[in-house]
Parts: sequence; C-alpha cells; structure tokens
Amino acid sequence: MKVTHKSQLDKDIAKVLISEEELDSTVTRLAEEISRDYEDKNLLLLCILKGSIVFCGDLMKKLTVPCEIDCMKVSSYGKSTVSGGRINIILDLQRTDLSERDILVVEDIIDSGRTLSYLTEYLSLNGARSVKSVTLLDKPSRREVDFVPDYRGLEIPDEFVVGYGLDYAEGYRTLPYVGVLKPEVYTK
Ligand code: IMP
Ligand code: MG
Repeated sequence: MKVTHKSQLDKDIAKVLISEEELDSTVTRLAEEISRDYEDKNLLLLCILKGSIVFCGDLMKKLTVPCEIDCMKVSSYGKSTVSGGRINIILDLQRTDLSERDILVVEDIIDSGRTLSYLTEYLSLNGARSVKSVTLLDKPSRREVDFVPDYRGLEIPDEFVVGYGLDYAEGYRTLPYVGVLKPEVYTK
C-alpha cells in the first residue's frame, strides 16, 4: 500500500480523542445554538488564526443566520509556565463598523484562558456592540485566569491534542480528527 502523508501523521497519534463524526455533531449543535441566539443580531464571526480555521469553516457552513467573517492572529508568550504571559496581536482587524457588530470570537481551544480573556476585553474596548466567544475544545483544569466561553463544544482532559486545525510545531493541522500525540514526538 502507498504510504501517504496522512498515514505518516496518523503514526504519531497515540489515540483519537474526538472522531470526525463527533466533531461534526458537536459543530452542528454549536451552530444551532448560535443561529438561535443571533437571529436579530449583526453577527461577525472572528476566526482566530491559525488553529481555528477548520472549526470556523465548518461552523459557518452550518449557521442559518447571516454573518460576515473576519480574522485576527495572536500569539501568546510565557504561556502556562510563566505567570503574566502576555498576548501579542500579529494581525489586527481593519474595520470601522465595530459599533454595529456583534462579534463572536471563534477559538479552537481554551487552555490558560489568557488569549480569550485578553481578546474579548480588547474588542469591547475597541467599541464592538457585543462580544461573545465560542470554543470547540476546553481544558478547564489548565485555567490560569477566570474565563468562561459563551458556547463550548467539548471539555477535554489535560492532554496536548492536534488535528482539525490544531498543531504541534505547525504540523498535524490537516488531520480530520482530534488526537493525542505520542510522547516520543515531543522528544524526537
Ligand atoms: P490560552 O491562551 O492558554 O487559553 O491558549 C489557547 C491557545 O493555545 C489555543 O488557541 C491554541 O493555539 C494553543 N493550545 C492550547 N492547548 C493546545 C493543544 O492541546 N494543542 C494545540 N494547541 C493548543
Ligand atoms: Mg489558537
């Protein structure tokens, strides 16, 4: 059998944590909740690059309310090991209509909570009409700052996961499921 790039990636996965089917039903449920709540709003889906690309793409296809999309890119430093880790904005919004927009920040995973708590405050301070957040995955046991997302897909244990947009060293984003990496991959 031909060894494909995908099957090479599969070899580094210790276990599949969330299957394609479970991802699909989770995103369907979130899209229903969001569509119900945003019927009378002016929704702007804000995809946080790069990890949320796949989730955001699947989510927007299932929404039944009108929306616009936009992207921001952030990076966090000193995360989890150093307290006071700060967030850097690498790509900012270039819009003048935030006062008319109900922003829904779309995040792949919440870990310490720093990224989303910083971003939601930043967007509110910049005049957005409303700011809420949806995360596909949540690791509540890792929280360093109090942050509760408005919509949450699945709670997962404290394990490093990849796939469905999530990466390790920029790899594994293209896997269609969410899996736990084999420990030897980190130490290679
Ligand atoms: P927070 O600011 O600590 O909540 O970090 C959230 C960001 O950390 C996410 O957007 C991801 O980019 C990254 N991250 C946290 N946990 C994981 C993981 O298990 N796999 C891949 N990326 C992760
Ligand atoms: Mg991310």
